[in-house]
Amino acid sequence: MLGTFSYQNATKLYFGDDSLQYLNDELPKYGKTVQLIYGGGSIKRNGVYDAVMEILTANGKTVVEDAGVMPNPTVDKLREGVQLARDNKVDLLLAVGGGSCCDYAKAVSVSVHCDDDPWEKYYIRFEEPDCAIVPVGCILTMAGTGSEMNAGAVITNHAQKLKIGHVFDEAVMPKFSILNPVFTFSLPKRQMAAGIYDIFNHICEQYFSGEDDNTSDYLAEALMKSLIHSSLIAVENPEDYEARSNIMWTATWALNTLISRGKTTDWMVHMLGQAVGAVTDATHGMTLAAVSLPYYRYILPYGLPKFVRFAKEVWNVAPDGKTDAEIAAAGLAAMENWMRTIGVTLRLSELGVTEDMLDAITDATILLDGGYKVFTRDDVVKVLKESL
Ligand code: NZQ
Ligand code: ZN
Repeated sequence: MLGTFSYQNATKLYFGDDSLQYLNDELPKYGKTVQLIYGGGSIKRNGVYDAVMEILTANGKTVVEDAGVMPNPTVDKLREGVQLARDNKVDLLLAVGGGSCCDYAKAVSVSVHCDDDPWEKYYIRFEEPDCAIVPVGCILTMAGTGSEMNAGAVITNHAQKLKIGHVFDEAVMPKFSILNPVFTFSLPKRQMAAGIYDIFNHICEQYFSGEDDNTSDYLAEALMKSLIHSSLIAVENPEDYEARSNIMWTATWALNTLISRGKTTDWMVHMLGQAVGAVTDATHGMTLAAVSLPYYRYILPYGLPKFVRFAKEVWNVAPDGKTDAEIAAAGLAAMENWMRTIGVTLRLSELGVTEDMLDAITDATILLDGGYKVFTRDDVVKVLKESL
């Protein structure tokens, strides 16, 4: 491990098929009024809403409903949620849903007691909160983003064609998260696949950086192997509890800050995917899947030793007299094969992207410098064209 760092993760997790009952242990720690944040209605169809409401009522809470958080939550919705929290002086923001609900809850949490416009303050000026933060709890229904145990909050501004993530400091992490793998069973298969690829790419974004011998990379390889194994079972049988529980747990550890310790980290696939999302509003995991293979093939020569290691350790590619470039290419071919098997999108055109949108997507792509190749605008255009 080269580099110095700090590590703290404040989120308490409750995991397992009876974990919802622990909401009873958490609720007494907070005041009376709970803003119940959820999406477009999946929790009403799968029974999670009723189960949560029963516990809230039994604990004497006043519930302020904040429904309709859309996938890729918008700044307009965020402003509404902030107003609702202010009007009702809420004591706890309880998100019940996927990453969109958890992210939105965190963005509301840092904005309720803040006078500035949240978009300008957190997503344009990237300031940290200098006001009281309303506590957040999550009941997760989709495995993917890791939002349940991190301080990220991604918000979309359609008017400005921007989708931007702010990773806040530890104070913004959920105070607790409840992870019941059974709650993910009702996810449509396409969403499950998108979540699986999102997890995988979070690991890649952290793995493909740096040249030192780093414990984080060994952890990353173990998480990738577990995910690949469980994903192949889950696509065959989505109700395999063991596979879905491993996927859920891997999602959390893929992006709860652990495996980024001591690393510069890349995140360019996410920057490209978020730019695609800003212009198309497509499903997050699918935007990543569509640009990933062209991106990794493009940067492969700049990070060859890590791509060779990835091929051997994660995809079991046997050297068999191959050159390093051939081993690395075989690793990415195995990854492509797996992506086809789990059923993710491999082309931007399948997400409705046309050539005339590429300028806007390029404009919306934030360039970072932690990966094996520092991208220019020209590199972005090349990868996007290759991904069409
Ligand atoms: O809205 P409802 O009706 O609940 O339906 C949702 C939504 O349509 C549905 N769903 C969720 N759980 C379900 C279910 N349907 C049936 N049964 C269930 N159990 O799935 C759809 C997608 O949900 P969403 O929350 O949008 O998905 P995800 O968890 O992938 O979150 C995506 C958002 O998180 C951001 C993304 O950019 C995007 O805005 N991210 C957050 C990150 C973070 N906090 O660190 C990192 C990620 O890279 C990502 O950028
Ligand atoms: Zn992601």
